[in-house]
Amino acid sequence: MLELRHISKTFNPGTANERKAISDLSLTVPDCDFVSIIGSNGAGKSSVFNAIAGTFFTDSGSILLDGEDITLQPEYIRAKSIGRLFQDPMRGSAPGMTIEENLSLAASAGKKGWFSHITKKDREEFRERLSRLEMGLEDRLQSPVGLLSGGQRQALTLMMATFNPPKLLLLDEHTAALDPATADKVLALTKEIVETNRLTCLMVTHNMQTALDLGTRTLMMDRGRIVYDVCGEERAKLSVEDLLVLFREAGGKSLDNDRMMLG
Ligand SMILES: Nc1ncnc2c1ncn2[C@@H]1O[C@H](COP(=O)(O)OP(=O)(O)OP(=O)(O)O)[C@@H](O)[C@H]1O
Ligand SMILES: [Mg+2]
Repeated sequence: MLELRHISKTFNPGTANERKAISDLSLTVPDCDFVSIIGSNGAGKSSVFNAIAGTFFTDSGSILLDGEDITLQPEYIRAKSIGRLFQDPMRGSAPGMTIEENLSLAASAGKKGWFSHITKKDREEFRERLSRLEMGLEDRLQSPVGLLSGGQRQALTLMMATFNPPKLLLLDEHTAALDPATADKVLALTKEIVETNRLTCLMVTHNMQTALDLGTRTLMMDRGRIVYDVCGEERAKLSVEDLLVLFREAGGKSLDNDRMMLG
């Protein structure tokens, strides 16, 4: 379970560039919840992920993961229990290393001595897991990851981030840079991996249809706050148009200049 208790973050306080990115935000995400998060550019979505992952410390409030207070834990320690994907498929895997070396690194969670020990059994497991992606990567174990397409690489990163199921998976617009067909494929894979492993997952998307189609709960953010939180039957009844109306009511902002998509 993830608990955010009254977290706040202001960048460049006291200067002309002061930005309040997170404003007294509280959120409890029970185990196995799959939460989609929407909100306009600058609403604070990535900042919340950065706060959870430990990219920066919040100014106030606390963060608990499975009951443990991680508020002041360094990012590299949190990374052992928090998997994260970004919009950029180039992040999250090592381009100069082969697919099997990347997978071996993910499997051993960065422990010393990981890659001299890729066994026949490891390769069988990698092949089996990769074949589920249906991208032909199971036949390219010795290819450098830098040769893969963005979609292939993002699918591989997803597999790496969940190789040992994390306590929490953070997906920040992880299909935004992919073509529509590949995005659909990676989203279907996301759904399967999250459901099969019963992961607790937060996913930021600008695609309102995706926000409603995937997951068990949807949050809307505006100006560093959660302005709408819906699950269950109420969510099941929502349409994209309903969300747009709610968005306008909650934030009162124009949608003209942001990337909010209808589906
Ligand atoms: N490292 C930083 N330094 C200064 N300001 C920042 C930093 N990170 C975020 N901000 C500011 O905090 C606010 C929230 O940004 P954030 O990236 O969290 O928004 P977002 O909801 O993820 O937007 P997008 O949909 O464009 O990704 C913005 O005003 C942004 O300019
Ligand atoms: Mg963002």
